Amino acid sequence: MALKLKNVVPLGRSFDEYRLMFNLSKSDLDKRIIGVGDGPASFNAEMKEMGKTVVSVDPIYFFTAKDISRKFDKVFDNIIEQVRNTPGDWTWTYHMSPDDLRNHRIEALNRFTSDFELGKKEGRYLTGELPALQFQDKTFDIALCSHLLFLYSDHYDYNFHKAAVYEMLRIAEGVRIFPLLDLMLRRSPYIEPLIKELERDGYTVKIKKVPYEIQRGGNEMMWIFNTSKNRMLPI
Ligand SMILES: C[S@@+](CC[C@H](N)C(=O)[O-])C[C@H]1O[C@@H](n2cnc3c(N)ncnc32)[C@H](O)[C@@H]1O
Repeated sequence: MALKLKNVVPLGRSFDEYRLMFNLSKSDLDKRIIGVGDGPASFNAEMKEMGKTVVSVDPIYFFTAKDISRKFDKVFDNIIEQVRNTPGDWTWTYHMSPDDLRNHRIEALNRFTSDFELGKKEGRYLTGELPALQFQDKTFDIALCSHLLFLYSDHYDYNFHKAAVYEMLRIAEGVRIFPLLDLMLRRSPYIEPLIKELERDGYTVKIKKVPYEIQRGGNEMMWIFNTSKNRMLPI
């Protein structure tokens, strides 16, 4: 077994983890990026420190930074405990141990919370949720979705995944999703049928190996982009 979670949890990753999970190149960082379901990740805050801009969307941005920290505290010890109890399910190369993982998640949360109120005012953190986002078509070059789609395959069904991916493709030129495993370390059953539908609709889908792994075997990212100009709309 790997992780048992009743709900989607607000745990966040750093800029460096996003860079590795999504194979983000230097030039990608200058593109128009949206992080969907960014939660308390520090990607947005760290990009801001580098003089770059990301828009993050998540339903928890309705709450205050304090509320989000409380939600994190409520689930965090139990998650780290589950990780400690299943050592064989994890790859300890990026995070070197459960304690190291714990410290990285707390650091990301702290960076996020100190940026959140300002970022909200600047329109970098917006409340919203898949499968319907409040942006015009092709507002972004890249939509990133980390640790939500595929990971929570037992919580969200195939139709939700399909609608969510097509929505991200509506607002962005390309979509990158990581990881492809669910919480029990199984490859999500939605991947193959989704690829079939996307390819039928004229999209190119690539599964890329990436230099980031925490779930054992979870080092692949899905990259989707549009190659056909005259594709049929999937509705
Ligand atoms: C495990 S966290 C991942 C946070 C961040 N992407 C990262 O990898 O560090 C999952 C996030 O997805 C958000 N979420 C849950 N349902 C969502 C939905 N329908 N649309 C967008 N975000 C959602 C949660 O609020 C939570 O912050």
